[in-house]
Amino acid sequence: MTKSSAPGKIILFGEHAVVYGRPALAVPVTQVHANVDVSDSSRAGIWIDAPDVHLQAELNTLPSDHPIASVIHNFLFLSRVSPFPNLEIRITSTIPVASGLGSGAAVTVALTRALTAHLNHSMTDEEVNAFAYEIEKLHHGTPSGIDNTVVTYARPVYFVKGQPMETFKVAQPFTIVIADTGISAPTKESVGEVRKLWEVDKTKWESVFDEIGEIVKQARQAMESGKWEKLGDLMNKNHALLQELTVSSPELEQLIEAARNAGALGAKLSGGGRGGNMIALVQPEIAEAVSSSLKEAGAKNTIITQVS
Ligand code: MEV
Repeated sequence: MTKSSAPGKIILFGEHAVVYGRPALAVPVTQVHANVDVSDSSRAGIWIDAPDVHLQAELNTLPSDHPIASVIHNFLFLSRVSPFPNLEIRITSTIPVASGLGSGAAVTVALTRALTAHLNHSMTDEEVNAFAYEIEKLHHGTPSGIDNTVVTYARPVYFVKGQPMETFKVAQPFTIVIADTGISAPTKESVGEVRKLWEVDKTKWESVFDEIGEIVKQARQAMESGKWEKLGDLMNKNHALLQELTVSSPELEQLIEAARNAGALGAKLSGGGRGGNMIALVQPEIAEAVSSSLKEAGAKNTIITQVS
């Protein structure tokens, strides 16, 4: 049996503007992951068992645009595996779906690496990343590529669309609390809504994206110089611009307000918005208290994580 695993991810700064060429900062979240086991099968076909999404089927019975089937079909096509092997593929994930934690990218990366290893194929990280980006494009419209990049390299990433992966150093570790509204919000939809706004008034939204890009650059400087307390204010400013972009929601606002009231240094939505997750920057000693306040305010789940 061959196993592979990939972490979740969280965007710290720059979502949405990153689709329009501005930089963004994201880090892996290792508390959650997608796991894939591939083994030879005694029955004919490629059998997929993904209990989290209630899927148990043979590959060819699935529509070819099914997210899991499309990874396998594209992988087999690209790697020119012939004849098709008989396989059992088990996929499990602790990453909530459509919540901004990169669950789709993590399944793609873990599945690609497990198939690569099991079928004695070889793929560099760059190739896995490029492949995962093609899959993201099939399902998410016009993604920037940040999700697959962070998940593939499992490192903090300063990301600019179309440019080589750049990592950054966090001089002084800091703590964030991630809270899930429990509302699943497909990224494709919020990215599509922002595109509609942009098409109506490009000058206005390009200048909002510029402001977000500036915040991202300042945040990187603050992290690299160990001045992480500065990030709170930058998170609040970034969130205000995301509100302007109409990608917040009443549930996200409730959690962001609860985190700030509980003493967080700053808070913002993270990812596509309209649901999914928010993040709050906290002093480590109040992380548990902020997490409890978030749960009282309706969070379905929280994760305390150290960015280092
Ligand atoms: C989704 O995790 C982040 C967005 O910026 C979309 C993208 O970058 O593809 C909203």
